[in-house]
Amino acid sequence: MKHAILWGLMLTLCSAALHAAPQDSNLPMPRYAGRNLIRPENYREWIFLSSGLGMNYNPSPEGPEMFTNVFVPQWSYGQFLASGRWPDKTIFVVEERGSQSRKSINKTGHFQTDFVGMGVEVKDESRFPEKWAYFSLAADTKAAGANPKAACWQCHDEHAAVEHTLVQFYPTLKRVAKKFGTYRDAAENLSLAARDDGPGPHRLRSTDMYGMIVKVTAASGQRESLISILLTGTGEMSGCLSYIVAKDFSDENAIWITEIWDSKASHDASLSLPSVQSAIAKAKPMIAVFGTPVVTTPVGGHGLQSTQNH
Ligand code: HEC
Repeated sequence: MKHAILWGLMLTLCSAALHAAPQDSNLPMPRYAGRNLIRPENYREWIFLSSGLGMNYNPSPEGPEMFTNVFVPQWSYGQFLASGRWPDKTIFVVEERGSQSRKSINKTGHFQTDFVGMGVEVKDESRFPEKWAYFSLAADTKAAGANPKAACWQCHDEHAAVEHTLVQFYPTLKRVAKKFGTYRDAAENLSLAARDDGPGPHRLRSTDMYGMIVKVTAASGQRESLISILLTGTGEMSGCLSYIVAKDFSDENAIWITEIWDSKASHDASLSLPSVQSAIAKAKPMIAVFGTPVVTTPVGGHGLQSTQNH
């Protein structure tokens, strides 16, 4: 009898240890600055769960297709394999990247390109009454506050196969969860595809387009060379719906640049493209005055690609 109690106690302790967050402070876990989650840095060294291409949850496709790469730290993954559950303080990253095809030797299919944005999900029971919380980070965001429940939490709550995670899309974990009985079969129902949830969830950007109009004055006699730099490599900017360079009619040195992006995040991400960076470096010495950009929210019109999706 004594033994039975002892064994019971030991089992409880072991399983508590299994579900508790480890004490090692070097392990990847959510970290905060005040109310904000600090951007997880080395997630590319975590376990890669899966990637989706252009995954969309409403019937009408929108915008260019993105890759979504999902990562989870090794320590959480290990505990999931042993229990079919996620330990407290688990952090997930879904990284969004652009897609391209027909480049270099590629003829068909798609490959991944630049970083567009990142979604972060945490299971942090002591911090969030809802246990799970969601954050969106653009290329240069260092920390972010939790998103409203309707933006992320709700869909994960309704459609996830294991707790709040979409394990129905991670083939290797699906088997594990089924073995431990933590898998919710109903999550595979096709009803998800028929829901109209607006734009795809991991379009972490807001659904507003982003426009910018700026006047640039070239150093005397440099307008033509500056224009040719501004026009190189502009076809490869993911999320760019329109990019127009025009000469000012009355000022022989002035140029007007009008840009429309599917979101601010795409615009921001373009600034880190090597082709854009090198164009900026080349253009700088030829610019006499860089005017104050006017930011707009384009709503539609003629000549815009895919405005009907916004
Ligand atoms: C309409 C449903 C829906 C909404 C809304 C949604 N997600 Fe997801 N989420 C998914 C699906 C489906 C996956 C599976 C992987 C994929 O899409 O590549 C996923 C996967 C994830 C993952 C990887 C871990 C996991 O839970 O499977 C993270 C992190 C994530 N989403 C964050 C977010 C954030 C942040 C938001 C809000 C900005 C959000 N999600 C909104 C459906 C949704």
